[in-house]
Amino acid sequence: MIHKISHTSDYPSPRITIAGCGVLGKGIATGLLASPLNLDPSKISLTVRREQHARCLREEFPGLAVTLDHGDPVLWPAEATDDDEAGHFFFIVTKPQHVQLVCADISPHIQASRTPPVVITLCPGITIAQLQDWLPTGTPIVRSMPNTPVMVCQGATGLFPSPLVSPGQLSILTRMFEAISPSVVTLAHEDQLNVVAAISGSAPAYFYRLMDHMVATGISLGLPESLARDLITQSCIGSGAFAREIPSVSLAQLRNDVCVPGGSTEKAMNVLDAHGWQRGVKEAITASLTANRSMGQGTTGRSR
Ligand SMILES: NC(=O)c1ccc[n+]([C@@H]2O[C@H](COP(=O)([O-])OP(=O)(O)OC[C@H]3O[C@@H](n4cnc5c(N)ncnc54)[C@H](OP(=O)(O)O)[C@@H]3O)[C@@H](O)[C@H]2O)c1
Repeated sequence: MIHKISHTSDYPSPRITIAGCGVLGKGIATGLLASPLNLDPSKISLTVRREQHARCLREEFPGLAVTLDHGDPVLWPAEATDDDEAGHFFFIVTKPQHVQLVCADISPHIQASRTPPVVITLCPGITIAQLQDWLPTGTPIVRSMPNTPVMVCQGATGLFPSPLVSPGQLSILTRMFEAISPSVVTLAHEDQLNVVAAISGSAPAYFYRLMDHMVATGISLGLPESLARDLITQSCIGSGAFAREIPSVSLAQLRNDVCVPGGSTEKAMNVLDAHGWQRGVKEAITASLTANRSMGQGTTGRSR
């Protein structure tokens, strides 16, 4: 069953910065604004690198502050307000190679803050140890890995907090993610986040590739494009919703329920197996995992 947060009255209103607001950052901003958390847009800020990009974001998100400057006072208000109670959640959503630069930009402002923000990264490969090196001592850090369906509040997210994140901070952040991501898991080991990136972080691309091939084949066999896309999209949504509704039934059983022995679906599955798609999926995810693990290795910390 897909769940969404329905009670928002007890949710404190945190300050939120999304630094590096590209595809995923925009997805998070869009999802948070559409979520039932009732966040105050005036407390959400976005940063990017290019002025042209900032202009587009200002048009797309008229109520939000957009800046190129990580020292902009809009991100670090001097006066304490009631919102400070809920804290500041600073998301870094740049590509991994730019994370260290953003950390350098914000470090003096974190040091000058009464309470340091919780810094959340969404980048595979960049470790908590690297982030601790790049940020002032004592900064609470969370590594996270959502996926693009957060834009329509249907994401899937893994979290790995550093020990300095308080239970209260983790609770506020988890509820924020839950509002845009019905599945939020807190991981026991940091490297599992790289596995989450390879599985659910990339999953939309895997599904879209499969859907694209299915739609194209439907078109080549005589169906109109819009009709084929509609049928395949709904089949994807429906299959996921059904699997989620009955977690006690294995995915193999759900598949077998469609594959009547000797029937057409079984024949189709045999063709896919003969083409080695199980091995292909495993090798693809493994390749993604290897890339995720190595992503932070090109960037160096101060001492590690
Ligand atoms: N896309 C996904 O499905 C997905 C899923 C899970 C995780 N992730 C992770 O999320 C991160 C972002 O991915 P993405 O697809 O959103 O990338 P993206 O579209 O390229 O967005 C990155 C943004 O970072 C901005 N940026 C770069 N350096 C900056 C700086 N110094 N200060 C401020 N902004 C800066 C860029 O701004 P300009 O455009 O102005 O240069 C760009 O808009 C990556 O680490 C990726 O691995 C992505």
